[in-house]
Amino acid sequence: MNPKIRKVVFPVAGQGTRFLPATKANPKEMLPIVDKPLIQYAAEEAEAAGMYNLVFVTGRNKRAIPDHFDKAYELEAELELKGKVKLLELVRNIVPKHVSCIYLRQAESLGLGHAVLCASSVVENEPFAVSLADDLIKCPGPSCLSQMAKVYEQFGCSVLAVQRVPRDEVNRYGIVEANADSNGTLRVTSIVEKPDPQVAKSDLAVVGRYILTPTIFNKIAKVGRGAGGEIQLTDAIAALLKDEPVIAYPFEGIRYDCGSKFGYLQATVEYAMAHQELGAEFTQYLRSILNSK
Ligand code: UTP
Repeated sequence: MNPKIRKVVFPVAGQGTRFLPATKANPKEMLPIVDKPLIQYAAEEAEAAGMYNLVFVTGRNKRAIPDHFDKAYELEAELELKGKVKLLELVRNIVPKHVSCIYLRQAESLGLGHAVLCASSVVENEPFAVSLADDLIKCPGPSCLSQMAKVYEQFGCSVLAVQRVPRDEVNRYGIVEANADSNGTLRVTSIVEKPDPQVAKSDLAVVGRYILTPTIFNKIAKVGRGAGGEIQLTDAIAALLKDEPVIAYPFEGIRYDCGSKFGYLQATVEYAMAHQELGAEFTQYLRSILNSK
């Protein structure tokens, strides 16, 4: 039986330059989709997958993230005084009691690979998940990390969430080549960070969910700077492939690239349309403005 995945690393030390000036003093992971910050959606997804140890790799200007998951004494006292019971419940239950949060600091933004390496002393020698909160993934059934944990339990090797992307966008992603085995499982044969669309070997892109074996830490420590001068997780996975199998997993769900303005707006509109309180009114509003144009 393969061990259960208990730990999930959230690299949240990036600079979020695509969202400036909104991200000048605020982390992009705190941008809300309707009324909940991206990082909370990601934490809830991890918790739903039974991953109760949340490891945040933070950087400068990221204090809002630990504050969000921390107890808010003054706010709670105020809400209690005013008898706002529902809101009190909401702020008290951002993370359930059985979930623990650990915060580490990446001193310099040296890349996603480097951010993951910063978590090695906490993750130690066990398989773990990595979740990029700016990829918001809505699934009709079990969450993306739950689906991937199941794949890990079956095969006991690293698993990458993948989806097909338009050819002219492959240079924004880690792109994998994979062969399907007799059961349809995709075995990765190569992975390249941000390839030129002219030479890319496929259109199968890695999105922000990974399950990795701890061997990855040695690999990250050895890769130099890659695309964009950063220490790339993709390059370390390419090195890992020489020693261990890696599976590409086309998850069932919709991914919103909330690190880009367009993807963020798509998620905002779709989550607002599906929102319990606002959905009907907002959908009607959208119809009315579209009809008036
Ligand atoms: P991105 O490539 O989206 O970069 O990082 P970014 O800096 O966050 O955003 P832009 O491109 O400037 O707008 C992918 C993920 O890796 C994390 C980011 O926080 C994000 O979750 N990351 C990136 C780090 O934690 N550290 C780094 O040094 C770089």
